[in-house]
Amino acid sequence: MIDGRVSRRSVLMGGAAIAAWSASPVSAMLRRIDPGKDAGTIDKLIAQMTLEEKAGQLNLLASAWGGGIATALNPPGGNSDFPKQVADAVAGKLTGVFNGNGAAMAMQMQRAVMSGSRLKIPLMFAADIIHGHRTIFPVPVAEAASFEPELAERTARVAAYEAAGSGVDWTFAPMVDIARDQRWGRTMEGAGEDVVLGCLFAAARVRGFQGSSLDADDAMLSCAKHFAAYGAAEAGLDYSTVDVSERTLRDVYLRPFKAAFDSGALSTMASFNEISGVPSTGNHWLMTDLLRGEWGFKGFVVSDYTGDEEMIAHGFAKDRRDAARIAFLAGVDMSMQSGVYTEHLPSLVRDGAVPQALLDGSVRRVLAMKAKLGLFDNPFRRIDLKREKSRSRLPASLALAREAAVKSCVLLKNDGNLLPLSPSATIALIGPFGSVGQDLNGPWVVYGDNKQAIDLPAGIRTAMKGRGRLTVVAGSGVESAIPGGIEAAVAAARGADVVLLAIGESEAMSGEAKSRTEIVMPAPQQALAEAIAATGKPVVVLLRNGRALALEGAVKAAPAILVTWFLGSEMGNGVADLLFGAASPSGRLPMSFPIASGQEPYHYDHKPTGRPNGPGKLQEYKAHYQGVPNEALYAFGHGLTYGDMRYSNLVIDAPTMAWGGSLGVTATVTNAGRVAAEEVVQLYIRDRVASVTRPVRELKAFRKIRLAAGASAQVMFKLSRAELEFIGMGLKPTVEPGTFDVWIAPSAQADGVHSTFELGAA
Ligand code: BGC
Repeated sequence: MIDGRVSRRSVLMGGAAIAAWSASPVSAMLRRIDPGKDAGTIDKLIAQMTLEEKAGQLNLLASAWGGGIATALNPPGGNSDFPKQVADAVAGKLTGVFNGNGAAMAMQMQRAVMSGSRLKIPLMFAADIIHGHRTIFPVPVAEAASFEPELAERTARVAAYEAAGSGVDWTFAPMVDIARDQRWGRTMEGAGEDVVLGCLFAAARVRGFQGSSLDADDAMLSCAKHFAAYGAAEAGLDYSTVDVSERTLRDVYLRPFKAAFDSGALSTMASFNEISGVPSTGNHWLMTDLLRGEWGFKGFVVSDYTGDEEMIAHGFAKDRRDAARIAFLAGVDMSMQSGVYTEHLPSLVRDGAVPQALLDGSVRRVLAMKAKLGLFDNPFRRIDLKREKSRSRLPASLALAREAAVKSCVLLKNDGNLLPLSPSATIALIGPFGSVGQDLNGPWVVYGDNKQAIDLPAGIRTAMKGRGRLTVVAGSGVESAIPGGIEAAVAAARGADVVLLAIGESEAMSGEAKSRTEIVMPAPQQALAEAIAATGKPVVVLLRNGRALALEGAVKAAPAILVTWFLGSEMGNGVADLLFGAASPSGRLPMSFPIASGQEPYHYDHKPTGRPNGPGKLQEYKAHYQGVPNEALYAFGHGLTYGDMRYSNLVIDAPTMAWGGSLGVTATVTNAGRVAAEEVVQLYIRDRVASVTRPVRELKAFRKIRLAAGASAQVMFKLSRAELEFIGMGLKPTVEPGTFDVWIAPSAQADGVHSTFELGAA
């Protein structure tokens, strides 16, 4: 095993580099480091390091390859000189680079460091592998709509297999921020508004990225981000202030992080935002007391892109030196992109402003991680030009992308069973997203290519197999009208049996820094929809979106609406599978679609207030907006199938859950439709009276079941006391005896079947 690695490495490194690496005393010392047992060995290395070399291990930069194309994904970074970056790496001034250009680049840098640097500490290569590397899977929020965490684990596994195959050791994912305000563009990157769903997807993605062992050549270190509460930005404005109680922080925003860490994530990224006056990057309570103290986190913390330096703009640090000091003392081990650590940590230690032991602690954590990733054993473990190609876009990976695409779509509405369509129909595919090859992958893809993805016309044509007829007309741009576009689209609609209206948001409209004030259809597309509706032809809306939208007019009134997000490599095939009934829709909304933008932030698990309006008629002096019900248009958990699912007969094992016991809650679910379908059966509770007010409903569990036409199943959930916990007055998990509502239902707003039970006294 060792021999095999050495010989492959010799081929890759070339004689000089391998000779230098093998002869280096550090190599002998570190080759078989087990960071758990051999902390002493790492300490010996630390003892040999200068303060500058230590600071270098805590400095991560965007790759300068290709004139700094990596920084095109972020604000300009200033590092575009690759030869200089390699020289800096050899001089020990950086720990690694991110969003570089694959194995060739990594090889060049690692070779230079392993042959030319004083201590020969391998570089670590990072990247934003958010939802796939070369094979692009649905954007994370879409995948969450599958309500199948195991699917996300499988797609993350393939992402790691491809990315690690091309030199990536560390991914800046998963993003586990709860998003309750759809104006925020980064909703697209997470798992939506719900805590339980968020925790399950966070844990699954970590398992997928990291595989069974971090030192495997198909595993990447994962990074749970953005710590913390980044999604709670005031008014959904990206980077903006967060002011949230510690109770809500613990009850909602922190829980997916804990789940990610419990699942093995060994790095986390400080969020850009402040929380109640303290920027996360400078928040000692968050990064040290809670994360390391209370939670016992053993990994390392990286700042977000220039997040440390940005504390100057926050008005929290007076200059770059102050920013370095504050971030480091708060517990941020590594600085991303600003360079403030290399610039100032050595002198801060010399001046006594930062204790040397703290610096050594951070360096130890980073080196231990490099050892865990197997880099000291073989610095070229993941860098392999052949493997980079041979692992890319394999048929099995694309098949998984198609499965994920199918499972991510959510059928909001299907009046008169308009869907599925006959492949022999005459179809007009209208709208800016019906035209070729754009906005398929989504906004957060570093290595995927939209040109390689299957677009809607291609997918639909393949499924039609020459039967029927497909006409494609844009009709409108995404945010601007096309002269004569509506006329051409209306003519195409008139000549068709059915219209597929592919409208929504472009990649440029969601993601980082893409907050919107009105989450509605852009005006030119709304005008197109109105004109098409006026033809009287049946319309299936195919929504392209990275967030929930407030649907209006003809879009809202269309008989069928399918949420198709950004589905990646197999978008066209996945959507076609659903359109023609090769598969039945099974996705569920991971966030509520409001009636109006002004309802945001909106989440189904809101508090009742002292003047609840309740469902139905708006009442004077009750909590509601003028003229708009409090409900969502389509609530969290909603999604139709081609079956017809009915819920009946809720049975609870016993009227009372004993303090130390559990309770079985069972419902009968029947598919009264004519085709087999998958149903996501959801269990919600409400704690009626508690010492801290509780939400009107909370998801506690769900199960996806497949039911043949006409079949029924008894779906049983076990509830225990732990699931009834909340963060109580002392900011500790609390459970109180009393009455609980329980629903088994097809969405957070559906009645389903309902009952109550008591939790007995301790
Ligand atoms: C984002 C992070 C990302 C980083 C590096 C930042 O702007 O907030 O999520 O990992 O850039 O690309």
